[in-house]
Amino acid sequence: MKHANKSIGLIGYHSIQYFARDLKSCVHWHIEKFGFEEIAKSNSAWEKKHGMRSVVLRGAGNIGWIITEPIEKASTAGRYLNNHPDGVAYINFRVKSIKKTAEFLVERKAPILYDIEVHKSKNAGTWKEIAIATALDDVGFRFIEEKKYDLFAPDHEWTNANTKNNDNRLGLDLGIDHVTCNGRSMHAITEFYAHCMGFKRYWGIEFHTTHHKPELGTGSGLESIVMWDKESGIKFATNQPLAPYYNNSQIQIYVEDNHGSGVQHIALGTKNIINTVEKLKVKGAVFLEASDKYYEQLPSRMKKMKLQKIKEPMEIVKKNNILLDGSNGKYLLQIFMKEQCVQMKNKTAGPFFYEIIQRAGDESFGEGNFKALFDSIEKQQVTDHRQEMRERVDSLC
Ligand SMILES: [Fe+2]
Repeated sequence: MKHANKSIGLIGYHSIQYFARDLKSCVHWHIEKFGFEEIAKSNSAWEKKHGMRSVVLRGAGNIGWIITEPIEKASTAGRYLNNHPDGVAYINFRVKSIKKTAEFLVERKAPILYDIEVHKSKNAGTWKEIAIATALDDVGFRFIEEKKYDLFAPDHEWTNANTKNNDNRLGLDLGIDHVTCNGRSMHAITEFYAHCMGFKRYWGIEFHTTHHKPELGTGSGLESIVMWDKESGIKFATNQPLAPYYNNSQIQIYVEDNHGSGVQHIALGTKNIINTVEKLKVKGAVFLEASDKYYEQLPSRMKKMKLQKIKEPMEIVKKNNILLDGSNGKYLLQIFMKEQCVQMKNKTAGPFFYEIIQRAGDESFGEGNFKALFDSIEKQQVTDHRQEMRERVDSLC
């Protein structure tokens, strides 16, 4: 079908909205353990109108992290948390023109949650937003156009005068590298990105993990496709389980733990992953660990990547359990944190987790690391963590 509007007009991310049962603990974790800073909060008018309260953090470049807890059970956050553990509920994008973005969405019959809302600030700046439902169950997308708008968001007041400072004490200042979502049917989600948002396929992979449960006979599997918006560079990965043993896949386990599709992880960029990871470890962050075999196999993998050596000392990379991948002499370093329910020692904090990534020319998604990561997640799900999550999921019912 031909469409009059060729582009959705994304500029980049405006903010991530995370719904949490315990605002104070979630904010505390991101500030104390993750190097974020509080910059704004909702005012009483907004809280009364929406039955929720929010604190806004900044720490990943200029992207806001809105942590919201329900005051009223019937609020948007209350209804979300009635169905799910804590997690990402909205991804908010900056757009060039709300009018053109809205036309694009309406023409493609995107599921509009609410039509364009306009807010004016005291200095006559404007904020315009529109929101859509997505193929990710209760996760929504907002599109925001700001013109000389002097608040973080309507009815939110600044709590820190230093609002222009995007530095992160732990070096997480390159913003969001990519967002990864899990669902039982990947194509329903990737088709949504293609049809409603005009995204194109960027990358894909499928494999089975090494088994950790002998009774399964083999490892579980997953398929993954990355879709992107070329104009803004925004990239969304989507995973689905892969047969045989579809229902044993860690992707299925995430969907069960999350009570539906949702955002599995957000990758944040750093210029110096060793520095960031070492600081995070001092703060008590817990990471997934690659096996010794992974590092034993690394020299032969590096030959295939045409990588003679990397700038970072390999023994420190290994000591910190950082993963390496690349091709044609270019590489990336990445590491995956354990889920927020583990970081926060709180069963309702959910299966969402953060990835830290440093790119040295390689723009892929760590093809060689994917299996190592999912081996590791699966091992963790089967051992210490799985039973705990099960209990938590049962308690949510
Ligand atoms: Fe990732």
